[in-house]
Amino acid sequence: MRPGQKGRLAILISGRGSNLQAFIEACASGQLAAEICVVISNNPAATGLDRAAAAGIPTRCIDHRDFPSREAFDAALAREVALWRADLVILAGFMRILTPVFIQPLAGRLLNVHPSLLPKYPGLQTHQRALDAGDQEAGVTVHFVTLELDGGPPIIQARVPIIPGDTAESLAARVIVQEHVIYPLAAQWHIAGRLQLTEQGACLDGKPLPATGIDYRQEVA
Ligand code: GRF
Repeated sequence: MRPGQKGRLAILISGRGSNLQAFIEACASGQLAAEICVVISNNPAATGLDRAAAAGIPTRCIDHRDFPSREAFDAALAREVALWRADLVILAGFMRILTPVFIQPLAGRLLNVHPSLLPKYPGLQTHQRALDAGDQEAGVTVHFVTLELDGGPPIIQARVPIIPGDTAESLAARVIVQEHVIYPLAAQWHIAGRLQLTEQGACLDGKPLPATGIDYRQEVA
């Protein structure tokens, strides 16, 4: 990318789209030197599609139920993403397990946000599992997507305390505030050419990141 040129983001959603909204706002404020070229949902009822349309961003829906297999859906999704020539593809609450058909061509250009302190609690129900385990803290991880579900190299994590009386809902509400901060930040690192996926894992400014990514503190920003 040439200096001063904006990065092109494709954002994939399945639902509410609050992380998408954080990206829309980060692009508008200039915190993220990027434009969202398309928002794609697998779910026609995703309210995030309305957020995108309200921001004047092109939207597409590719309904996974129209395809005979995961691979066929992933191939259609990959074709659509390729049309938009995105520099970076952002999974923002995209609730489909992706196959190599989609993941491999985007190696190093595909990020996800997962609401736990990975490697703890890959998969679903992360907040309830943290509560059931009696954990003192929970959090969120932004990571590169690889073939292992929620198992790609972490880039950055933010932590929140678990407070007595917390429910999965109250904890999720505390965590999502942090998601909205660290996800655009990681994307900006990538757009600025500072973040790479290498054989050693995630690297920032040419240096390998810790196994659980950078521990976000306010001063990182
Ligand atoms: C977030 O909690 C994200 O971590 C998880 O799915 C949720 C999506 O929320 N992967 P939203 O659609 O961005 O509001």
